[in-house]
Amino acid sequence: MNKVVYDQDHDLSKVDSLAELQNMASACSRCSLRKGCSGVVFGEGNPEARLMLIGEGPGADEDRLGRPFVGRAGQLLDRILAAVDMERFTHVYIANVVKCRPPGNRAPQADEAAACLPWLYRQIELVSPRIIVLLGSTALQNLIEPGAKITVMRGKWLVSKSGIKIMPTYHPAALLRDASKKRPVWEDFQKIRDEYWKDRL
Ligand code: URA
Ligand code: URA
Repeated sequence: MNKVVYDQDHDLSKVDSLAELQNMASACSRCSLRKGCSGVVFGEGNPEARLMLIGEGPGADEDRLGRPFVGRAGQLLDRILAAVDMERFTHVYIANVVKCRPPGNRAPQADEAAACLPWLYRQIELVSPRIIVLLGSTALQNLIEPGAKITVMRGKWLVSKSGIKIMPTYHPAALLRDASKKRPVWEDFQKIRDEYWKDRL
């Protein structure tokens, strides 16, 4: 493909493949995070997955490797998926609210998330999942409601205007800090597995 020059006004609804969207996102400089990271971590998994997972943003390992959820939290995420007989390249597609690593792993700021979210929204449209799992409060607050509390919202289904079932749960990094969150996440992923296989025996 030819070199893509990202045009701030480009209508992303006309971008009709994930590969093209990734190419464009790789050339993005809509916020200052791009200057401080090694590269854009676009996302990975099955591009036709019925289940999409959305995290916060790349950490140091993800920034180095250019892949989402490959550090400690990512390894725990893989174990959580394995516990419900799922695997990242088969059953899910994984992306983040921001695609460039925030300095020092801080949460993305509102302006950074706002600049990046059009990529994620188009990514969601192109993957077209039936279920979205929001991993942690950054995903919850940027996709659902700025003041939403993950402790209150986790484990309950929401439905988007287009009919996507949405389940917020704790971020795997939160489980590494607080083992008491493992049980609720286990329960949430049981519900997610049931919904995933509903109508699909
Ligand atoms: N944490 C996230 O939210 N996303 C990643 O990709 C890695 C760690
Ligand atoms: N351990 C922590 O204490 N925090 C994280 O985010 C990940 C691992």
